[in-house]
Amino acid sequence: MIKFYDISQWQEKPHFQTGGTRDKVIVENPEDGNLYYFKTSLKRANDEYKHEFWSEIIASDIGRELGFNTLHYDVVINKNKIGCLSKSMVDANRNKLSEIINYLRGYDSNYNPNDKSSYCKYTFRFIEQALRSYNMEGEMRHIVTTIIFDSLIGNGDRHQENWGFIIPNSHGGNGEEHTELVVNAVKCVFAPIYDSGSCLGRELLDEKIEKMLGDDQMLYAYINRDRCEIRWDSAKKISHFDLIEQIMEQPNYRQTVEDEIARIERVFNAEKIAKIINGIDQHLPENLTQYGLPGNRKQLIKKIVSLRFDKLTELKCKDCKTYT
Ligand SMILES: Nc1ncnc2c1ncn2[C@@H]1O[C@H](COP(=O)(O)OP(=O)(O)OP(=O)(O)O)[C@@H](O)[C@H]1O
Ligand SMILES: [Mg+2]
Repeated sequence: MIKFYDISQWQEKPHFQTGGTRDKVIVENPEDGNLYYFKTSLKRANDEYKHEFWSEIIASDIGRELGFNTLHYDVVINKNKIGCLSKSMVDANRNKLSEIINYLRGYDSNYNPNDKSSYCKYTFRFIEQALRSYNMEGEMRHIVTTIIFDSLIGNGDRHQENWGFIIPNSHGGNGEEHTELVVNAVKCVFAPIYDSGSCLGRELLDEKIEKMLGDDQMLYAYINRDRCEIRWDSAKKISHFDLIEQIMEQPNYRQTVEDEIARIERVFNAEKIAKIINGIDQHLPENLTQYGLPGNRKQLIKKIVSLRFDKLTELKCKDCKTYT
């Protein structure tokens, strides 16, 4: 269940550096002494995705409802900023988060995601080759599952630093990243799914929401424009569904994808999903209701999830026709 906190009095940890593009800070909860990550919605020069933090919270809650291991986010106010809060996935005394980029760069030292010439390298195969080089190909099932989760919410931002593994603090890596990953390959655990908030129409302006609700063609076109950050081959980005279809065609992944889609079909309950979305902001105190998620956005998010679920499950049927 999503809770509301006022964290204005929690102590900020300014010396911690986090990656990422949103306004964020690490804070210590005075009650339990644990560290938490607070982040706001994305602000760009011309765009303000003011409802984006709700997409993070809804995505995580829907994910849990459907049996994915998503990181839990609550809604919080921090002085004059509204945003979402997650408890640290790691305990600095014991372990740390090593994001996928470390494995990719450990495998291919020329890979640099900030360099345009590297964009096209970020493919499913590249991730597979990198993990295999660490004898971690067994972890690919988590990669597949996360892509399927993203297909349901339309998250277009699963870049190299938005997923990873929790590894023990190394004894023997001498601080050298590659050695540390090798030493810990057998002890790593795929991290809970985090930073999934670039989804569920968070970038749509208010006027567009109304239009889309009244125009199914416009909504379908929007969903069909979906692009997954992870490519199949280097040429161009494709939709999550096209990527999943490609993965499904690989004999060693077909069963994993089919089982996962079948599992989601079994647990998907439109009423429960609607309840999550409708009630997401119910704990906001009265003086902060201006930050609530407007009813028409909730309406659109419900439609998006439902249409995306249909598209995902159609893939399985398509596959049945092809293979049986
Ligand atoms: N709960 C958490 N536990 C541990 N580390 C976290 C947690 N939340 C965030 N981080 C770290 O902080 C980084 C930035 O957080 P996050 O990805 O949520 O922010 P962002 O600004 O949305 O990122 P992006 O630039 O990918 O859009 C993450 O890549 C991760 O390393
Ligand atoms: Mg991030």
